[in-house]
Amino acid sequence: RAFLHRLWKGNVSSKMLNPRLQKAMKDYLSANKHGVRFRGRRAAGRSRAALLCALRRRVQVRTLDGTEPPFSALGWQALVPAVPLGQLHPRGLRTCAVVMSAGAILNSSLGEEIDSHDAVLRFNAAPTRGYERDVGNKTTVRVVNSQILTNPNHHFIDSSLYKDVILVAWDPAPYSANLNLWYKKPDYNLFTPYVQHRQRNPNQPFYILHPKFIWQLWDIIQENTKEKIQPNPPSSGFIGILIMMSLCSEVHVYEYIPSVRQTELCHYHELYYDAACTLGAYHPLLYEKLLVQRLNTGAQGDLHRKGKVVLPGLRAVHC
Ligand code: C5P
Repeated sequence: RAFLHRLWKGNVSSKMLNPRLQKAMKDYLSANKHGVRFRGRRAAGRSRAALLCALRRRVQVRTLDGTEPPFSALGWQALVPAVPLGQLHPRGLRTCAVVMSAGAILNSSLGEEIDSHDAVLRFNAAPTRGYERDVGNKTTVRVVNSQILTNPNHHFIDSSLYKDVILVAWDPAPYSANLNLWYKKPDYNLFTPYVQHRQRNPNQPFYILHPKFIWQLWDIIQENTKEKIQPNPPSSGFIGILIMMSLCSEVHVYEYIPSVRQTELCHYHELYYDAACTLGAYHPLLYEKLLVQRLNTGAQGDLHRKGKVVLPGLRAVHC
């Protein structure tokens, strides 16, 4: 538990991870499969206020709007939702919940608190049915990775998980964010199922995040971290947090930074154990969490007992 106590204080380094995770991180660094070239400069000692101000200046949620090649020539301007994600709630949302899928949320009894928020964001295939007491049952936004759209096991087309919610999909693109290259060779081909889903469900808000947004978040994590982080996109969790910080006045994040219930159980809905789910291997998850820990305005007791972090919305940040 020493590691957990240090994580709550923001006082950990990758050297404290188990050797297997350290090895995985090193291998991702040398593979650099997305061609990352960090050109920013490190500013690792920023205060909370300075960090928030940097986020406010730099974080612009951006989705494919069909105006750039190759999507412009494919008629995507008429395919994507007419109303952009940032304008679905023009006056903004008051308080929002981001519910991580971590096993640690089991037996939390957080469901009622989570549902009391104006909007709730969940990830991938994380269910609510059968887990209401711990995770609630309201879902406003679901952030899904490209594997959800392409792996038949997820039944993306007909599962109720993906109906009556705002869908936001993403896929790791090259760091250059060259859309032509990405379109030809996505990690998982989310474009075909996206087009099909838009045609069948034109009234459901469904967006694909712009690779520039994803890598902008990566740049910000690296800038504010002393160590070299994995040259891979941030986790869906970090992406979801920043989306809600752009849309809401206040964001309550559950079981991202683990509570006392910390466990190697990867997801609350699946019998699969791996420390990498909580601490990262492919994703720079440990560094994401250290950054979010620095931004927390919530009570320390809520962090320990609920695994809850409270973050201000970016619109209200004064620079
Ligand atoms: O695994 P999946 O990406 O669907 O989970 C959603 C997000 O929840 C992750 O991207 C990660 O940020 C967070 N998570 C976590 N600890 C876990 C499992 C998930 O922090 N054990």
